[in-house]
Amino acid sequence: MIKRLTLIIVLTFILASPAVALNIFYPADGTYVVHSDFLIIKAGDGVDGLTLDIGGDKSDLLDISSAEYKAAFADFLIVQPNWDAGKNTVKVEAYKGGKKTSEAQAEFFFQDNIADPPPSDYKRFIMHKPEQEVFCTGCHNMNPTPVQLETVGAENPCASCHKRMLEHKNVHGPAGAWQCVYCHDAKSSPVRYAPRKKDAKLCAECHEDIVGRFGAAKRVHGPVEVGMCSVCHDSHASDNLSQILRKANELCLSCHEGVDKTIHVISGFSGGTHPLDGVEDPSTGGNLTCVSCHDPHVGEARYYFRDGITSRMLLCQRCHKK
Ligand code: HEC
Ligand code: HEC
Ligand code: HEC
Ligand code: HEC
Ligand code: HEC
Ligand code: HEC
Ligand code: HEC
Ligand code: HEC
Repeated sequence: MIKRLTLIIVLTFILASPAVALNIFYPADGTYVVHSDFLIIKAGDGVDGLTLDIGGDKSDLLDISSAEYKAAFADFLIVQPNWDAGKNTVKVEAYKGGKKTSEAQAEFFFQDNIADPPPSDYKRFIMHKPEQEVFCTGCHNMNPTPVQLETVGAENPCASCHKRMLEHKNVHGPAGAWQCVYCHDAKSSPVRYAPRKKDAKLCAECHEDIVGRFGAAKRVHGPVEVGMCSVCHDSHASDNLSQILRKANELCLSCHEGVDKTIHVISGFSGGTHPLDGVEDPSTGGNLTCVSCHDPHVGEARYYFRDGITSRMLLCQRCHKK
């Protein structure tokens, strides 16, 4: 009886104050992440200062000891980093009264580009499982009610951590309206908020017309054919039109490396090639890019020329009138 009681007390204690030690929470050691958004450190009890060493660049001592700081963030430090694409190393030292008391190190991978995946020994960082969320419950609402999940704006329970995701020029309709759980299943387990369906099926629920058009086309571009809308589009927000992950040419070249370094379309007398960027597209008045000639999704002939154009010559005439 007594034994069982102690056990319960110990368990409660562990749940109430997980890990007292210095902990590089995010990005955790051995994981990979797809955003350079935050570095989240739990400093441990009684720590009053930290130094950060990011890729050999060491900070001064960051003071986290003020009463105001402790009241708001306790022993958490959250900063916005600027990761290098690929492998990164962060070293943290914790200080009490000017003395170093502990240190920690994390090595992780920042996947900046879909075409540059991490080596297989890095595991995707996962936030929303019970053993992780317990660290945050004290200050953030980690168990929102269905009514709270419907709130639009800063009061939405996802906003306290994710509001920066939407701070871009072009915000996707449902994300801007904080309908996060329309696409993310609030009840999925063990990892919460898994996308409810595979991309194309999810997108088709609201973009029936366009996904239907893809299905009816003669030729479908590889990544669209396999329903991977998210390799090109951010479902939340981006600085680019149509919420594409990066500028059109960079996006295309991330899979079609070298197209801009070879002769494309024409070989002139001077040995030059057709411009692919940096000039005006006379058919739209915007910047000429890969998608001035190619449709990113589908086509009626090989090479997916825009607007269902079926031949090279008809394509040229789109911009070069006789
Ligand atoms: C001691 C209280 C406390 C704890 C515990 C805590 N946070 Fe926070 N966190 C805050 C406060 C206060 C803010 C600022 C809220 C705001 O701006 O609305 C914040 C903001 C954030 C932000 C947004 C930062 C930004 O500027 O956009 C993220 C991300 C975040 N917390 C993640 C976490 C995670 C993950 C955990 C658990 C591992 C956690 N926090 C635990 C207090 C805490
Ligand atoms: C305590 C802060 C916090 C709150 C509150 C929060 N998240 Fe997160 N979430 C994070 C962090 C940190 C990550 C990892 C970084 C990233 O992927 O952006 C993350 C990752 C995710 C992921 C990627 C998968 C995963 O588990 O890593 C999804 C999806 C997600 N959050 C959805 C939501 C939704 C939906 C809500 C509101 C119901 C929410 N989050 C509330 C901090 C938070
Ligand atoms: C239109 C559907 C949709 C909506 C609405 C949506 N998401 Fe997502 N979200 C996705 C999909 C799909 C993925 C997976 C992307 C991938 O596989 O690369 C994702 C991934 C994420 C991730 C992981 C990081 C990343 O960028 O891949 C986070 C964090 C996240 N969502 C948070 C949110 C939050 C917070 C909201 C509400 C503001 C939200 N999502 C609204 C579809 C959506
Ligand atoms: C819950 C409904 C909903 C879902 C699901 C949804 N969208 Fe949207 N989407 C909208 C709304 C609303 C708009 C804004 C209205 C508009 O501009 O067409 C929009 C706009 C867009 C745009 C910009 C259109 C333009 O003309 O530039 C793109 C691109 C887009 N969505 C892609 C996607 C992708 C990819 C998915 C799947 C990952 C998806 N959407 C899932 C509702 C949705
Ligand atoms: C290979 C990259 C790529 C993939 C994969 C992709 N898109 Fe796009 N998408 C783009 C680009 C680039 C644009 C902008 C086109 C432009 O500016 O002419 C765009 C534009 C859009 C638009 C707005 C313009 C329009 O045509 O109505 C919607 C909606 C859209 N995509 C939905 C989807 C959906 C749904 C999927 C998955 C079935 C998908 N996309 C897959 C690159 C892609
Ligand atoms: C995620 C990787 C990926 C991205 C991003 C991507 N593509 Fe592709 N693309 C492929 C694959 C795989 C194929 C081969 C299957 C096929 O023919 O569709 C392909 C084929 C093509 C072809 C036909 C090649 C041939 O020899 O018939 C063209 C043209 C093309 N892509 C243009 C583009 C353009 C323009 C963009 C940017 C809007 C783009 N791609 C972005 C993966 C990608
Ligand atoms: C001025 C129109 C035009 C522009 C701009 C353009 N293409 Fe093409 N592309 C073509 C034509 C035409 C073909 C068919 C092959 C040929 O006739 O040379 C083609 C063929 C391709 C192919 C298949 C053959 C090959 O070279 O691998 C790919 C992949 C491709 N383009 C990708 C791109 C990418 C990526 C961009 C942007 C960096 C781009 N294209 C910009 C017109 C264009
Ligand atoms: C989307 C519009 C567009 C399409 C389609 C297009 N072009 Fe062009 N082309 C341009 C622009 C813009 C220039 C640059 C004009 C300038 O610098 O004044 C150009 C330049 C050229 C040049 C001169 C290159 C140089 O600098 O020496 C040739 C030759 C040419 N295009 C041939 C073609 C051929 C052949 C096709 C069809 C396979 C084609 N173009 C399709 C827009 C286009």
